[in-house]
Amino acid sequence: MVETIQWTEAGVVMIDQTRLPREQVFVTCRSYQEVAEAIRSMVIRGAPAIGVAAAMGVALGVQEGVDLETVCATLAETRPTAVNLFWAIDRMRRLRASLNGLTHSELVDRIIAEAQRIREEDIGICRAIGKNGAPLVPDHKTVLTHCNAGALATAGYGTALGVIRAAAESGKHIDVFADETRPFLQGSRLTAWELQQDGIPTTIITDNMAGHFLRSGRIGCVVVGADRIAANGDVANKIGTYSVAVLAKENGVPFYVAAPVSTFDLSLPSGDAIPIEQRSAAEVTHVFGVPIAPENIAVANPAFDVTPARYVSAIICERGVAGPPYEESLKNMLR
Ligand code: MRU
Repeated sequence: MVETIQWTEAGVVMIDQTRLPREQVFVTCRSYQEVAEAIRSMVIRGAPAIGVAAAMGVALGVQEGVDLETVCATLAETRPTAVNLFWAIDRMRRLRASLNGLTHSELVDRIIAEAQRIREEDIGICRAIGKNGAPLVPDHKTVLTHCNAGALATAGYGTALGVIRAAAESGKHIDVFADETRPFLQGSRLTAWELQQDGIPTTIITDNMAGHFLRSGRIGCVVVGADRIAANGDVANKIGTYSVAVLAKENGVPFYVAAPVSTFDLSLPSGDAIPIEQRSAAEVTHVFGVPIAPENIAVANPAFDVTPARYVSAIICERGVAGPPYEESLKNMLR
């Protein structure tokens, strides 16, 4: 499986997700500013992977001897929706605050070790999500997914794709429909690429085909990831997720969300309070630099939407499977 992000002597090495699947190019970030730019430009993306990158960015900043609050503020400004970014920054900040009386080099060692630990833990968390979610996936059916919640969106294995991988590894006969996921094409470029390498039969559909197939009886369940989950179970995920969830409910297809508990934000009562990132018009008007719309046309490009909890059949995390009412079940997962 592809290495999404690694700490090395030379810096933080990431596979450049803007160039997949055409080219497999690795970039090395040597400063916390370079990590911030990699997150902003989506060289690395996906909520848990952004968290790992932020932790490693903090480690680079501490190694460089830069003021911790400057480093944390720079990284926190990159993308607003995935709460894992802020979770990871907070974890690094808390560790730094607990370390007193160390030499600079001892401090740097501890901070780097913590960033690496966050990466390693994430792989184990994804495996646990997969194990918890696999029994929910019906045998001999198609699983529909949206965006990329795979190895590339995490430190490895994936959340939604972790559930799909674990179901396939348990011997279930499944195939996958991957929504293309306009405008950034995480579904066709990344999910399809990952699953093809695993030998899991995968079909790309454009986003507007999801309703057609959900109505056909072929789809056994939908599994997606999440960028932030509010206390009432409302889920922010890639733009287009909400439409899929409504269509799933209309057609009696279970809609599952797979995410680590670091994606829960119980400080927010509902999804209305989740900040939604607005990205550039060029992502909509251009495909790999080629214009596909008239010049100077108005464009809206919200990168995420919120799926109300009533459309979510269950939330699969590393500690188990939470069902409605989510006010209770999500709190119980964090106990
Ligand atoms: O804009 P992106 O590509 O960072 O958005 C990614 C998603 O919406 C994923 O579904 C989510 O982060 C979960 S990844 C395990």
